This record gives sequence, structure tokens and C-alpha cells, in this order.
Amino acid sequence: MHLPKAELHLHIEGTLEPELAFELAARNAVVLPYSTTEELRRAYLFDDLQSFLDLYYALMAVLRTEDDFDRLADAYLARAAAQGVRHAEIFFDPQAHTARGVDIGTVVEGLARALDRSEERHGISTQLIMCFLRDRSAESALATLEAAGPYLHRIAGVGLDSAEVGHPPSKFREVYEAAAALGLRKVAHAGEEGPPAYIWEALDVLGVERVDHGLRSMEDPELVKRLVRDRVPLTLCPLSNVRLRAIDVLEDHPLRQMMEAGLLVTVNSDDPAYFGGYVGDTFHAVREALGLGQEQLRELARNSFRAAFLDHDEERRAA
Ligand code: HPA
Ligand code: ZN
Repeated sequence: MHLPKAELHLHIEGTLEPELAFELAARNAVVLPYSTTEELRRAYLFDDLQSFLDLYYALMAVLRTEDDFDRLADAYLARAAAQGVRHAEIFFDPQAHTARGVDIGTVVEGLARALDRSEERHGISTQLIMCFLRDRSAESALATLEAAGPYLHRIAGVGLDSAEVGHPPSKFREVYEAAAALGLRKVAHAGEEGPPAYIWEALDVLGVERVDHGLRSMEDPELVKRLVRDRVPLTLCPLSNVRLRAIDVLEDHPLRQMMEAGLLVTVNSDDPAYFGGYVGDTFHAVREALGLGQEQLRELARNSFRAAFLDHDEERRAA
């Protein structure tokens, strides 16, 4: 039985399973550099974040129409529901699509179609978080926020993802200020490969309400104190950290120490089609690797609702 939970760190493009990728490639006449799903799956051996991102962006070429984005999101929601997800705050990367000629409206309207049916079909409430690609310019992020103008009623917040090192949060101060002025919530990836200083910047310069990953927080005791004091949630993705070689093996993951330090941590799947499991699989894997008991798993599930952008009534209904 899966515990009811919220998923707060999930890139919808990272849910593109090989079977759907080939189906959409055929439909949209996109030629993939792999001939079978097995061959594609064999390419899922990554050295670091960048080696994953190269494949992640390449495979997105198959996503072209509203219907493609609808299919993608609906397939994720079906899998997530089967693993106990009741609420999902879903990232998407508009620049990865607009850069190859797909309009942001196609992306948002397509995702929204699946999200609009989600409560009824899958029993999952949803929100969308639009991420800026940090390895592109601040100007490009601002232009993206502007392009999202007609769709802001569908978007709960902004995030920051893609290649981290060399692209500190402070690069995006202005766009986060503009997003906040529009009433958008704020999160950012920080401390996945980048140093604790990036987590400080996400908090102090961007004013984020949650930190995505925050894996390297434990290197800085003052930072841990700050995160505990302010109850800042961290959206950890343990399977991702192993696959992208941030840690060697799951047994080395600091999740347990982070819980013991009083951090508000959650467990998420990040890019489940690429990293070997959806969020229920991830709970199972950390239970086995770290020897977590039922009470700790329940705490992680409770944390996911506490850290969600839900009001308290919604939180009770979803849990
Ligand atoms: N890190 C940064 N950017 C990403 C990731 C990730 O794990 N997945 C998709 N974009
Ligand atoms: Zn991520």
C-alpha cells in the first residue's frame, strides 16, 4: 500500500517514457538517434547532471502539439496515482520548447488539458511551476515570463533548473522580483551539484519558499540552522542523486541525517522516466537502503503536504 503523498519536484518532460517517445516520434515524423526502446534505455547511463540534460533536451524533440503535452502529463498522472500521489506540483521548461519553435501556449494549454481532468480521472490535484533554464541568460528568462503573461492564471509559481554550476541564483534576481510582483510563488533548484552558497542565494537573493534538492545543505551548519529555523522545505530526489552521480550509492544519501537535523525534507522523483522510479518506488528504495521505519516514511509523506502550496483545507482533503 502506498502512503498518500504530494509530489513537489517533478519535471514533466522527465516523465517521457521511451515507448511514448517513439510513438510521438512516429506521429510527428521526428527521427530519433535510437532505433528501439531498449537501445534508448541503454543510453540512460549518466556521469553527471549535464550528461543527463543532453539526452533530456534531445528527446523533447518529439513533443510538438497540445495533444502531445496532454498525453505526457496524463501518463504521468496515471502512474503517480497508482503510487499514492494525491497532489502534484509539476515543473515544466518552456524555453526548452520555445527554442525549437513550439509556442509556450501549446505547452501550457496541452498540459492544462490533462491537469483539468486530473482530479476526476486520477484523484490528483495539481499546480504548474514554470522553470527558467539557468544556463540561458537572465534576459531570456525575463522574455519567458513575459511570454507566459496570457497563461499566468494556470501557473502557480516559478522555478530554476538545468545546469547549475556557474549559474548562481543571483543571476535571476530581477526575474524573480518580477515574478513575485505578479503574485507567483518561488522555488529554485540549488545545492544539487552547486555549493551551499547557491542555497543561501536562493533564500536571500531570490526569496524562495522551498529549495529543490538542497542536497549539499549538510556541508554548512549555519545553513542547516537557517533552514530549520525558517522551516524551509527541501525537495530531495534520492534516485536522481545516485543516477547523476551526486552520491555513489543510495546507502550514502544524507536523507536520514537531514531528518534527524530537523530539516523539513520531502522525497520526490525528479525525472522518473530516466532515474529508475516514480515517487512510490523512491519511498520503497530509501526505506530499503536507509532502513527507514514506518514512522519516518509517514513523516516524509506528511512533510510533502506541509511543504505543498496548498491551503490547510486543501491539505486535509488531499491527505
Ligand atoms: N536538475 C536540474 N535541472 C533539471 C533536472 C535536475 O535534476 N531535471 C530536469 N531539469
Ligand atoms: Zn529537478
